[in-house]
Amino acid sequence: MSITFAERLSRWQADIEHALDRCLPASTSSPARLHEAMRYSVLGGGKRVRPALVYATAAALSLPQHTVTAAACAVEIIHAYSLIHDDLPAMDDDDLRRGRPTCHKAFDEATAVLAGDALQALAFELLTTDSDLPANPAIRLELVRLLTQASGTAGMAGGQALDLAAEGQPADLATITDIHARKTGALIRVSVLLAAACQPDLSREDHDALDLYARCVGLAFQIQDDLLDIEGDPLLLGKATGADQALQKLTYPSVVGVEAAHRKVAELHQQTLAAIAHFGSQADSLRDLANWLVLRQH
Ligand code: IPE
Ligand code: IPE
Ligand code: MG
Ligand code: MG
Ligand code: MG
Repeated sequence: MSITFAERLSRWQADIEHALDRCLPASTSSPARLHEAMRYSVLGGGKRVRPALVYATAAALSLPQHTVTAAACAVEIIHAYSLIHDDLPAMDDDDLRRGRPTCHKAFDEATAVLAGDALQALAFELLTTDSDLPANPAIRLELVRLLTQASGTAGMAGGQALDLAAEGQPADLATITDIHARKTGALIRVSVLLAAACQPDLSREDHDALDLYARCVGLAFQIQDDLLDIEGDPLLLGKATGADQALQKLTYPSVVGVEAAHRKVAELHQQTLAAIAHFGSQADSLRDLANWLVLRQH
């Protein structure tokens, strides 16, 4: 009997929770406060969009789930670290994340900085040491290369720097598209590319189709995040709304307007589905994920 997408997603969410729990350091081991902060920020919340993309891509490419679990953990751990630092007073200065106090509020700023640092290192440790990932050293190296590029200056960290530099600056579509592709798009994109790298038989055409799918999902995801900051329900979101306007953030709706931003999400949605149209029913979870991400209210 086939299961619904909602059932599949909640299974994946439970699977990733379990895998993350196992790879994080115990809160009883020293330094306990740092480990508690890492566990607090990674476990028990979040939609797990990036791991779901890893798993859905693996399913589309006939890879057993356990062979990509460490990649799914690694990208979610980088994401959790990026949220801890994003919420710091030096960045977006937010008090609420996933319906709970942000890491620096629940602990302290120094612990939050260090929890992010240690999580980043843990993500790469997993890619190099996990025994279920493909053993081929060339694939391992490619996984590390992909995640470093997506996390570093060409990706998330660079995007966050540009995001901060753009506060209060004049609106410009090329700039906001570049910021979104880096700060959020890169980790979404790499979720798909990590699973793709574990399938050595993948054709160039299918690789590029998955890459296009992932880039469209990544941009749509951050535009939707910007829209939810304007139109969303803070209780559902588990974080404050109106924060972007208060900080004079350069967002997609601030550049093109709310209506045009919605139209762009719809256009990207169609592009994601078109990119993988030639894949068979094995790619249905990728389609379901794209449909969910553009309609999401949190
Ligand atoms: C929030 O990401 C930050 C962005 C990159 C837009 P998510 O919306 O995936 O956050 P969680 O993991 O579900 O809390
Ligand atoms: C965050 O973007 C992107 C990263 C954490 C890399 P936002 O600043 O818009 O995310 P939220 O709205 O705080 O979740
Ligand atoms: Mg931010
Ligand atoms: Mg923020
Ligand atoms: Mg936001």
